[in-house]
Amino acid sequence: MKKTRNEKVNICMVGAGYVGLVSGACLAELGHRVVCVDNDPRKIKMLEKGVMPIYEDDLERVVKKNVKAGRLHFASSVKEGMLHEGHRADAVFIAVGTPPRDDGSADLSAIEKVSEQVALNMTDYTVIVEKSTVPVSTCDWIEKTVKRNNGRHIPFDVASNPEFLREGTAVWDFLEPDRVVVGVSSKRAEELMRRVYKPLKKAPIVVTSVKSAELIKHASNSFLSTKISFINAVANVCERTGANVEDVARGMGLDKRIGASFLKAGIGFGGFCFPKDLEAFYWLSRQVGYDFDLLKTVKDINEGQKLWMVKKVEDELWNLEGKTVALLGLAFKPETDDMRFAPSIDIAAEFLKRGAKVRGFDPVSQENAMKVMKGVHFARDAYDCVKGADCVCLVTEWKEFARLDQKKLMTAVKHPIMVDGRNLYDPAKMRDLGWTYKSVGRP
Ligand SMILES: NC(=O)c1ccc[n+]([C@@H]2O[C@H](COP(=O)([O-])OP(=O)(O)OC[C@H]3O[C@@H](n4cnc5c(N)ncnc54)[C@H](O)[C@@H]3O)[C@@H](O)[C@H]2O)c1
Repeated sequence: MKKTRNEKVNICMVGAGYVGLVSGACLAELGHRVVCVDNDPRKIKMLEKGVMPIYEDDLERVVKKNVKAGRLHFASSVKEGMLHEGHRADAVFIAVGTPPRDDGSADLSAIEKVSEQVALNMTDYTVIVEKSTVPVSTCDWIEKTVKRNNGRHIPFDVASNPEFLREGTAVWDFLEPDRVVVGVSSKRAEELMRRVYKPLKKAPIVVTSVKSAELIKHASNSFLSTKISFINAVANVCERTGANVEDVARGMGLDKRIGASFLKAGIGFGGFCFPKDLEAFYWLSRQVGYDFDLLKTVKDINEGQKLWMVKKVEDELWNLEGKTVALLGLAFKPETDDMRFAPSIDIAAEFLKRGAKVRGFDPVSQENAMKVMKGVHFARDAYDCVKGADCVCLVTEWKEFARLDQKKLMTAVKHPIMVDGRNLYDPAKMRDLGWTYKSVGRP
């Protein structure tokens, strides 16, 4: 009888952030042995105590279950992660941050550092998997860096495996992906990557060259950003013509060639992915001699959209000096504590620049918001936030804001003016309640 081979892969996941921790925990859930490594000792200590360093639905359950089963471990150095309790890593995933530089390019210095560490600690054939979002050709640089530091000439391959999870539904997205993209340059690496994802029975695995895989991620995020800016531009036309953007989006989205998702008008996209990935793709295109001007327009529409809210408040309150504006929601989207590139940061800064007083409240991201939003007064809850406010601005569509007692809100505010940047409420109901109510692209 043919001997069945061990399908389990020993994985070292470097970077235990939103992507690395979720991916590591989910790969353990798929049956692999995973060591999550982070150079932030605070994160590793928290994880060892069973405390999640980020807010992500279902993550704690998956982490605790797999720690208990002995499949998920934590370490504070790449060395320890690659040889952990006698288990040598077959694959090292790199999931560290790739923040934007001032010129829009991605800062890849953390990737370089990790690549050096991996090279110094390899003892047998290893697949180095690029999971962070990086510009095309980064895998070439990883390969060069590893070769330069690989004194013992240990065989290795570099693969690209971009991640498409969304914060807020990250565990679900990882375990039920639309597709898995794997860029490889050898059969040996392909075989290992297929073993990693084999337990995801339903997901198609798209195997491509390394460069195509790198480009798929940037092209996907840029396309999704384009859809958002497109519908926001349509919303602006709706506002000027009396059409309703929700009806327009529904009518468009039922066309299978267009699709219904990402056609929700609002105050623009934020977060750690879309703004920086769009910028990096634009930068990269110019570097290789192509002016991808569409991407610049997508960005400009998004920047303009953030000002939509300020403009609407000015339309109602005239001068903002000395007036109080209450921001309900600060995270870039609901179900996350992530404040990176959240539109609320720019919106609050614009109000402050115009002399307004800004009060803010977010049910989950408030602690992170306090670190990055200066000059804002943070409230205890939504009702406390709107107390005495001249205008209420709905910035993040948290479910709990949909259930707020509107009458109680109205008695707390100074003037019942609501600018809804996420089209959370029903315009007719809000007006019946007595609000002066403005939303995005709806009459
Ligand atoms: N956040 C998302 O929704 C998302 C989705 C898909 C892809 N991505 C991409 O994934 C990458 C990671 O994003 P993130 O949101 O997880 O970032 P993050 O900041 O949450 O996590 C990165 C982690 O890497 C650690 N780190 C940095 N340098 C290290 C080193 N030398 N050794 C060990 N650990 C190190 C940091 O301490 C941090 O915990 C980025 O390229 C991002 O664009 C993010």
